[in-house]
Amino acid sequence: MLLQYDVKAKDFSSAGSVSSAIKKVLKQLNIDPSVIKRIIVALYEAEVNIVAHSFGGSIECTITADTVTLVIADTGPGIPNLEKAMLEGFSTATDEVREMGFGAGMGLSNIKKNSDTLEIQTAANSPTILTISFIISQG
Ligand SMILES: Nc1ncnc2c1ncn2[C@@H]1O[C@H](COP(=O)(O)OP(=O)(O)OP(=O)(O)O)[C@@H](O)[C@H]1O
Ligand SMILES: [Mg+2]
Repeated sequence: MLLQYDVKAKDFSSAGSVSSAIKKVLKQLNIDPSVIKRIIVALYEAEVNIVAHSFGGSIECTITADTVTLVIADTGPGIPNLEKAMLEGFSTATDEVREMGFGAGMGLSNIKKNSDTLEIQTAANSPTILTISFIISQG
């Protein structure tokens, strides 16, 4: 099964709506709730990062009998120093983003902690593409 969604930049009122839609589908498939929780934590952080830090992007979720794979892509501006960005507490969030309650610098490290595999393709002035996968067991 393939699910696809667009995510708009700066649209904080809709941030999290893709995560909610995917959560609903995963629940309907009777996937282990503890795995769904990990998937949604990682997905939500990546979704908010598109809204807060990018020019806009898309989310693809592929579900097979034993894996869920998320491809979260945006059109830039990219991350110049990924090693630094992965550190807990590192954030370039603007005051506007912080006022919305984001910007603790915990998102990427939370994605890493909750996923089974994480690949990040990014660079300055480039798209950012996260590929996150989870091993599932359907009930
Ligand atoms: N999609 C993206 N495009 C450009 N920069 C990004 C993207 N995702 C993350 N970053 C950069 O990496 C930094 C760290 O991201 P992370 O998600 O860990 O923290 P945050 O978004 O700043 O705060 P939090 O997620 O805790 O609300 C961001 O502040 C930003 O500089
Ligand atoms: Mg974040």
